Amino acid sequence: MAASVRIADLPGRIGDAVTVLGWVGTTRSSGKIGFVVLRDGSGYLQAVFLKADVPPAVWERFKALSQETAVAVAGSVRADPRAPGGVELTASDVTVLGPSTDFPITPKEHGTAFLFEHRHLWLRSRRQVAIMRVRHEVIQAIRDFFHQQDFYLVDTPILTGAIGETAGTLFETEYFDLGSAYLAQTGQLYLEAAAAALGRVYCFGPTFRAEKSKTRRHLAEFWMVEPEVAWNDSDDNMRLQEDFVSYIVGRCLERRRDELQELERDTGPLERVTPPFPRISYTDAVTRLQQLGTDISWGADLGAEAENQLSQDYDRPVFVYNYPRAVKAFYMKQNAADPRTVLNNDCLASEGYGEIIGGSQREDDHDLLLARIREQGLPEEAYGWYLDLRKYGTFVHSGFGLGVERTVAWICGVPHIRECIAFPRMMYRLYP
Ligand code: 4AD
Ligand code: MG
Repeated sequence: MAASVRIADLPGRIGDAVTVLGWVGTTRSSGKIGFVVLRDGSGYLQAVFLKADVPPAVWERFKALSQETAVAVAGSVRADPRAPGGVELTASDVTVLGPSTDFPITPKEHGTAFLFEHRHLWLRSRRQVAIMRVRHEVIQAIRDFFHQQDFYLVDTPILTGAIGETAGTLFETEYFDLGSAYLAQTGQLYLEAAAAALGRVYCFGPTFRAEKSKTRRHLAEFWMVEPEVAWNDSDDNMRLQEDFVSYIVGRCLERRRDELQELERDTGPLERVTPPFPRISYTDAVTRLQQLGTDISWGADLGAEAENQLSQDYDRPVFVYNYPRAVKAFYMKQNAADPRTVLNNDCLASEGYGEIIGGSQREDDHDLLLARIREQGLPEEAYGWYLDLRKYGTFVHSGFGLGVERTVAWICGVPHIRECIAFPRMMYRLYP
């Protein structure tokens, strides 16, 4: 196939004769002049066909183009300040490479169920392309941040023993002669072992939770990045989080302006995402919620509604710290100043997007940890190795987990996280 030029590279080729390979978006024609918008993944390009200047066969092929036909368009690159990317193509030829008739997703409105049924095709829409590009930026920013800060990436297992966050939400599968294995809900516990070897570590991969919830914030498979840092206490942990979240948002503002504009995202609130983030204790948060007329009492976990109300007080993400021990995971360090609580925090995104991070200082006292494992009725034998970390050189350490899809949803201003992963896995969806 003749050397082609990616749409993103066309601004450097003004005046050249080139061939562009891509898919047909919209077409329109006045009878004498025809327009095609092409997409190739790197960008969008308008190609212009002048009936008087092209052979009749080319004009006929232009007229027959339909949505999502794969084409090769030859022409010359012309500067046009009004066009996206600043260029247009004056077309001289078009070849159909892959026909497309009756593409199911048309510019008119479709229902959500229909769109998810056609997710493999829906991904081609401008909005979905913009979201996927922001997601890419978020992930690249995550890797760059930790690399720059001298963290080591440690890949934790996906097939695990009964080790995780909450016993009720495990996906189970048969594992040779060893009984059941479970898909990982977190890499954290393994990462704690790695932190004792490497100091600053992170894992980043898919995470599985068989949560039977149909909310806009829950997926059965989502991506989570989890750092773990030796010698960090809970305050250090929150400082790392605010630097991290600010870096990710900053990168999207710097490099994904066009995509955020495509998504009609008001970037004002994102511009304000700079450290320090405000901090409020769980206990003060409950008092504040009561003032706001919420029916909540000390000891209850904060639901989505409560989180939403709380975050209205702030113009940037907020940390809620030191939750009641009873509503949190067994591994969180007991707060010596108030043993009803643990040294943890959630980070609530601004504008009502809710929890994007859960983090904590870890219980480093062997006996307290063992007591918590027993209290929660967890299978003690499965945690032998985890308890070992408290027997051989126990150390202060903290870490957190940031959910990629929730972060992307917030940055994009998308209400439901299922649009923030290419092929969402939800209780009621395994296809496509
Ligand atoms: O608060 P979570 O459950 O924390 C942990 O898993 C810890 N082990 C993290 C750590 O300390 N290393 O989950 C962390 C984040 C949440 O704040 C949320 O962003 C995301 O993971 N998350 C989900 N995202 C989509 N769908 C779900 N079902 C999610 N559950 C959690
Ligand atoms: Mg959480």
